[in-house]
Amino acid sequence: MFDGIARQYDALNHILSLGLDYRWRRAAIRQVVAIRPQSVLDLAAGTGDMSLTLLKRYKPTRLCCADLSPEMLARGKRKLTRRHYDSFTQFVECSAEALPFPEAEFQAVMIGFGVRNFADIPQAMREVARVLTEHGRLVVLEFSMPKRGIFALLYRFYLRILLPLFGGLISGSFKAYRYLPSSMERYARESPLPVAIKAAGLHTIATVPLSGGAVLLTVAEKR
Ligand SMILES: C[S@@+](CC[C@H](N)C(=O)[O-])C[C@H]1O[C@@H](n2cnc3c(N)ncnc32)[C@H](O)[C@@H]1O
Repeated sequence: MFDGIARQYDALNHILSLGLDYRWRRAAIRQVVAIRPQSVLDLAAGTGDMSLTLLKRYKPTRLCCADLSPEMLARGKRKLTRRHYDSFTQFVECSAEALPFPEAEFQAVMIGFGVRNFADIPQAMREVARVLTEHGRLVVLEFSMPKRGIFALLYRFYLRILLPLFGGLISGSFKAYRYLPSSMERYARESPLPVAIKAAGLHTIATVPLSGGAVLLTVAEKR
């Protein structure tokens, strides 16, 4: 599905989030930069926006963008190459549930809006824990659901009516933009990440709601 919308993905991201996605990614990147990691895995990297946000602030010795979708990854590679960031960046087509890296390969793993799409979140977290070094850090940005009040009502209206309509019209893929809100609501309802993180042996050190709870930033460490 992501192959089908890769061309319009970036523009739609910025339009449909009203530009807030830049702010969300910067908040996540601050958590990555805080430990000054030399090796970073951008998992479910898509078109590379997490990596780009990181590289504007901080350059690790090694950065690896990994994603299941060749089309999303190809766009990410073109974007990073245009800015001459490609010399120390690797692009790997793979699944989060079976990472093709040895143990303790990365000091930080970041996942921007990817987790809710994983077929097996517990297995993906076990893989993340395996490839992280001791004291390595996992930073996850994922959609959440504001719980109460008028903002929660407005947000649901936006998700169920406006987002599928505008996303579908602009991208031409109504299927993808019906999937997006339903995957967001299901993920927020089931909230599988904290349990998967703990079961993988990682320790959550912070969960920070952003934009009134529309997005949740989770930071965990391997100890
Ligand atoms: C919504 S995009 C997020 C892209 C980027 N991280 C961002 O912040 O914009 C989700 C990405 O997750 C990837 N993805 C979905 N399931 C995956 C899996 N099991 N393993 C690796 N990547 C996956 C998709 O191909 C897609 O590029």
